[in-house]
Amino acid sequence: MFPFNRPRRLRNSKNIRKLVRETNVHADQLVMPYFVQAGKNRKEKIDSMPGQFRFSPDALLKELEALAKSGVKSILLFGIPEKKDLKASGAFSDRGIVQMAVCAIKKEFPELTVITDVCLCAYMSHGHCGVLSERGNIDNDASLKILSQVALSHAEAGSDIIAPSDMMDGRVRAIRESLEQNYFENLPIMSYSVKYASAFYGPFRDAAHSSPQTGKKIPKDRKTYQMDPANLREAMREMKQDLKEGADILMVKPALAYLDVIREARNRFDAPLAAYLVSGEYSMIKAAAQKGWLDEKQAILEVTTSVVRAGADIVISYSAKDLADWLKSC
Ligand code: PBG
Repeated sequence: MFPFNRPRRLRNSKNIRKLVRETNVHADQLVMPYFVQAGKNRKEKIDSMPGQFRFSPDALLKELEALAKSGVKSILLFGIPEKKDLKASGAFSDRGIVQMAVCAIKKEFPELTVITDVCLCAYMSHGHCGVLSERGNIDNDASLKILSQVALSHAEAGSDIIAPSDMMDGRVRAIRESLEQNYFENLPIMSYSVKYASAFYGPFRDAAHSSPQTGKKIPKDRKTYQMDPANLREAMREMKQDLKEGADILMVKPALAYLDVIREARNRFDAPLAAYLVSGEYSMIKAAAQKGWLDEKQAILEVTTSVVRAGADIVISYSAKDLADWLKSC
């Protein structure tokens, strides 16, 4: 009788489309990353990431007022230290840039969820995420000691969630142990469980001055600790291991080139799942939009929706604030 079904019936109006929409992005699930550096009243443009800045702590507080209005409730902090060395001293000092910023933020915005990235690359003169051994390798177990010190110093400063991004083996366990021993047993760990050795971190490294240096006995990339982009089953092993070690939230990073990994993780694990739309994924859209080649708002909403549709509960994105503002009028 009827020759075919007509899916277009449910596309007739904006409100019908909303009625049958399967995936909705909301501000509560978005995390806005910020770069913080020493100084007063500094808000420096990041060339490789149009629309993003390096803030001094006081300037960041001003920015957070606007963020609060957007409805975004969580931020992820990255520190840019004044000095780097071979021990990453700036990463665990109680006067370190992240520690100071967290204190100031929690005082002004007690309700804001402040997540702190735990890594050494921005604090090491060689730019690697761990300790460099004399033979020129990244020394896993020596790195664990520093990483757990960094995590503890963040906890003491008032961080709400600890997010290790270094990719050393056993770091979740080392951090969990140190938190337990120091009365921070209730502090969640969001582990960058599945972090691929990706070209899409390029703009971030420019922003944080954290590219690995070149030289004799310095590995030229992060491929001995970050994952091979070709591997999905290995990603599942990393996640399983992190849950065993005491992670509360799992993460896949980058997001866009790894939607299949997000989906597989969602199917296998019950834990909350985060996905990170990284700097290169952000700047790619920005660059095309600046040339007038695509509609920025539509592209950002589309990309973020795809990450949620793939199974992420939490999306870390440099577009979080803008997107939350746009969502109000969608
Ligand atoms: C630190 C770290 C990086 C990112 C988050 N934490 C850079 C890297 O591993 O080189 C990348 C985030 C982004 O590109 O937006 N290890």
